[in-house]
Amino acid sequence: MFAAQRFGLGLRKPHYTDFLDGETPVAVDFVEVISENFMVDGGRPLDVLRRVRERHPVALHGVSMSLGSADGVDPTYLRRLRKLVDLADPLFVSDHLSWSRVGGFNAHDLLPLPYCEETLAIVAANVERAQDAIGRAMLIENPSSYLAFDGDMSEWSFLDALCARTGCDLLLDINNIVVSAANHGFDPIRYLAGIPESRVRQIHLAGHSQGRDLLIDTHDKPVPPSVWSLYAAAIQKTGPVATMIERDDDIPPLSELLIELEMARHIASQPVRRAA
Ligand SMILES: [Fe+2]
Repeated sequence: MFAAQRFGLGLRKPHYTDFLDGETPVAVDFVEVISENFMVDGGRPLDVLRRVRERHPVALHGVSMSLGSADGVDPTYLRRLRKLVDLADPLFVSDHLSWSRVGGFNAHDLLPLPYCEETLAIVAANVERAQDAIGRAMLIENPSSYLAFDGDMSEWSFLDALCARTGCDLLLDINNIVVSAANHGFDPIRYLAGIPESRVRQIHLAGHSQGRDLLIDTHDKPVPPSVWSLYAAAIQKTGPVATMIERDDDIPPLSELLIELEMARHIASQPVRRAA
């Protein structure tokens, strides 16, 4: 069963030489690329994608679909994403439970949503439109956040309802749970208990920073002990799930990330504990 589990890394520019030109392929089972960086008609980005795809399965991870936008998902964006999906034949296609665009304004950020029935209807309609456009189920990632709206349902209840309504699956970001749990004062184990574990198809691991009053989702440090221990609890619940490390700032040599990935392999290889 565990033999089916994949471990991967995000493809970042400082590691292009390692991934594209190394004598042997990097020891990962998949690489995740940022969709928007490759939603172009040609040139170097698509050459990079073709070359990495020759060596590894690829997951597509979007950062600007804006699934919370009340005026819908941009149809031009969806057409370009479909073209990329057809080209890359990805393991997964994911984006975030957030919004970034309204009218002509684009925040270039993953902004939080109020978790209520009205929002659920909007996000579900957008997810369904996106899934129709790309011809497959999407993975929706839980965000990190720094504020919440009064009267919300819990994020885990919202994601559970979204999966049931649309048939989407989940990209569970363990660091985002740790960050949001600290910032909003909920129990991360309660979060894990509330998500539909059978819908988790991919897991993100990353590091964060301590701000003055809040944890900040910076992706600029190694995965900390709090994230490793919640990963151990998550993988016990979900069973084998494709796992990868996100590092977007202060990017170290690839060898350091591969050592971190070994840690993920080790944790995931521990026998599943059954409650008595
Ligand atoms: Fe993530």
